[in-house]
Amino acid sequence: MNLRALVLAAAATGTMLSSGATAADAKKGKKVYRKCVACHSIKKGAPHKIGPNLFGIVGSPSGNALGYTYSKAMKMANLTWDEATLDVFIKKPKKLIKKTKMSFAGIRKHDQRANLIAYLKTLTD
Ligand code: HEC
Repeated sequence: MNLRALVLAAAATGTMLSSGATAADAKKGKKVYRKCVACHSIKKGAPHKIGPNLFGIVGSPSGNALGYTYSKAMKMANLTWDEATLDVFIKKPKKLIKKTKMSFAGIRKHDQRANLIAYLKTLTD
């Protein structure tokens, strides 16, 4: 699948997210974030770790954190981290961006991803 097809598939998943039987739960998502904490800070202004700080990530353009050195693949990806796109990325990062330097297998469980994204959404001003 090419990138465009994947993003279209992502948009379809997004529809499922919002119409799913169980509402996403940010509190549970905070626990799922433990899978990310080794590499990502989330407090506003906190220094980048192995990966960029994720404060305000939902709705932001990809590869845009100031002072973080992205892979070429991420710099060129030109995506917007809306909920649908994040869902596809977190499910299997290298499927969406083949040469990303994010070494993370992904989260297979749909509920866990939905809760995590609900949590990430709370990280704004
Ligand atoms: C082993 C370390 C590691 C883990 C674990 C990890 N990431 Fe990452 N992440 C990275 C790296 C490194 C990058 C930069 C990727 C690049 O430049 O290709 C990144 C990039 C990202 C981006 C893109 C950010 C931007 O500014 O465009 C998002 C979103 C993201 N990660 C979310 C997550 C989430 C959510 C989790 C937990 C489910 C997670 N990551 C787990 C290392 C990690």
